Amino acid sequence: MFSLPLRDNARLEPLEPWHAEEFAAHLDRAREHIRPWVGPAFVTDDLDGARATLLRYAERQAGDGARLYGIRLDGTLVGGVMFTDFSAGSGSCEIGCWLEPAAEGHGVVTLACRALLDWAFTTRGLFRAEWHCRADNERSSAVAKRLGMTLEGVRRQSWPYEGTRHDKQVWAILAPEWQP
Ligand SMILES: CC(C)(COP(=O)(O)OP(=O)(O)OC[C@H]1O[C@@H](n2cnc3c(N)ncnc32)[C@H](O)[C@@H]1OP(=O)(O)O)[C@@H](O)C(=O)NCCC(=O)NCCS
Repeated sequence: MFSLPLRDNARLEPLEPWHAEEFAAHLDRAREHIRPWVGPAFVTDDLDGARATLLRYAERQAGDGARLYGIRLDGTLVGGVMFTDFSAGSGSCEIGCWLEPAAEGHGVVTLACRALLDWAFTTRGLFRAEWHCRADNERSSAVAKRLGMTLEGVRRQSWPYEGTRHDKQVWAILAPEWQP
C-alpha cells in the first residue's frame, strides 16, 4: 500500500510475507544471476523457500532489526534492497541489494540504497552503515562507491562458494560523511 517513488517508473516498497508468490516468481528470473554474489540462504528454489525468507525478515523487523524492501519497475518486482543487519543499540547497520538481469543498469539500486541510508542516518540516528561484497563483484563495489562509501578492508578468503574461497570487501560510510 505504501511506496516511495525513486524515479518516474521506479518505486520502493516493503516486501512482506503476503508477497510470497510474487517474490518466488521474481526469484525464478533472478536466481542464477544473483547466486554467486549473495548469501546462500537468500537463494531459495520454491514458494516455501521464498515465503520463509519473507517471514524471517518480517520477524527481524518486528524486533527493530533487519528489513526488506522491493524495487518495482512499472509495477513489476525486479529486485530489492535490505538492511541485512540493523542495530539501533550499536548505531550500525549493513545494507544489501539484488536485481534481476533486466533491471540492471538503470541506477535504481543506488537510488534505493540512498533512501535506506537517509532513513538510517537522518530518521534513526545511526552512525555507521556497512556494505559487504565479494571482492570480484565489480557492479556491487561500484554501488558502494557511488554511495560515497570507503573501502575499509578485505576479509581474505572469507566467502566460500562452490569449493572456492573468495575475498570479501567491507565498505562503510559514517553519519558525518552522509550527504542526503
Ligand atoms: C549489484 C547490483 C544490484 C548492481 O546493479 P546495477 O544496475 O549495476 O546498480 P544500479 O541500479 O545502481 O545502476 C547503476 C548502473 O546504472 C547506470 N545508470 C543509468 N541511469 C542511472 C542513474 N540515473 N543513476 C545512477 N546510475 C544510472 C549506471 O551508469 C550504472 O551502469 P554501469 O555500471 O553499466 O555504468 C546487480 O549487479 C546485481 O543484482 N548483481 C547480482 C547480485 C549482487 O551482486 N548483489 C549484491 C551483493 S553484495
